[in-house]
Amino acid sequence: GKSGYDHYMHKEIHEQPEALRRTTQGRVNALAGSVDFEEFEPGRFADVTQLHLVGMGTSYHAAMYAASLFATRGVPAYAFMAGEYSLSQPPVTESTLVVAVSQSGETADTLDAVRRARSAGARTLAVTNVVASSITRECDDSLLIRAGPEIGVAATKTFSSQVTALLLLCERITADITGTASAESRELLESVARLPGDVQAVLDTSTAADVAEAYAGSEAYFFIGRGVAHPVALEGALKFKEISYEHAEGFAASELKHGPLALVTERTPVFAVFTGRDDEMTLNNVKEVQARGAPVVAVTSHTDGDVVDVADAVLAIPPTHPDLAGVPANVQLQLVAYHAANRLGRPIDKPRNLAKCVTVE
Ligand code: F6R
Repeated sequence: GKSGYDHYMHKEIHEQPEALRRTTQGRVNALAGSVDFEEFEPGRFADVTQLHLVGMGTSYHAAMYAASLFATRGVPAYAFMAGEYSLSQPPVTESTLVVAVSQSGETADTLDAVRRARSAGARTLAVTNVVASSITRECDDSLLIRAGPEIGVAATKTFSSQVTALLLLCERITADITGTASAESRELLESVARLPGDVQAVLDTSTAADVAEAYAGSEAYFFIGRGVAHPVALEGALKFKEISYEHAEGFAASELKHGPLALVTERTPVFAVFTGRDDEMTLNNVKEVQARGAPVVAVTSHTDGDVVDVADAVLAIPPTHPDLAGVPANVQLQLVAYHAANRLGRPIDKPRNLAKCVTVE
């Protein structure tokens, strides 16, 4: 049941600290700076030379997030929408690891991408929430995100668990390739251990309902971010549009000047996601949209200084490692979408035209 919540989505948003504890349980050795998966023996990924991460919708956003993490560690990794990957498949070798990111493990486009990658000779790894799903059965290996069952059509806790599981996978694959655990790994894994508590803090203190109220009736809602905050911006917009039916779009902050800025007015609030890395650049983008009259909601761990001074409203996240900050930031955006949809009386757990699991291409 919904255990006192009006909607499964709201319940599942609040289950995230617990889901993240399960995702990381027994996998993180912060002291050693290492990640252990009972699924894979040490060195299993030592000869991986590049990764293709494929998924659809929210899972594609998790794939983008992970590709950005790999890239900053010097490991060539690219995210693809699974439906497009199948149509124009980039070259693979036996040292290409194709990672299929899928909550259900049943998405037709993602399953098809895996089949094609396999027959072209790539290694395949499923990252899913469902044991013995079709995609796990098709892949050479699988990693469970262990988020627990998700009933709401809109993916929430599974995104947080996907990103966190992929971050652990990234640490592990990078260590397998380079043969060492880095000092930075230790710091990051300590932040991973604090993540369930950080997300709980967001749930306990969020002002997302007030923000949703303040900007109700706007013409459109835009979301911007750079680095890992880019997929978070896309995910914030996807959640917002799918459950509220309001027009919402996510952009890379760097993309604004190249077209989207033409849409920005005083009637289009902009949610800007800050991770603690390259924040000054995103702050410049914030000033650009404000100069066009748009109100700006900053999702940030800053409690004073320029970001907070400039923003019209702030959705606060606890200070954490920039690689992880997208997770609590996304929780704030889930809550904004939820409250915006709820005040419009939308059928939040079953949005029109959408299904939890898309098994046709
Ligand atoms: C959005 C949403 C969808 C799914 C997509 C992929 O809230 O839930 O965009 O993320 O259909 O589904 P899975 O992850 O099951 O492959």
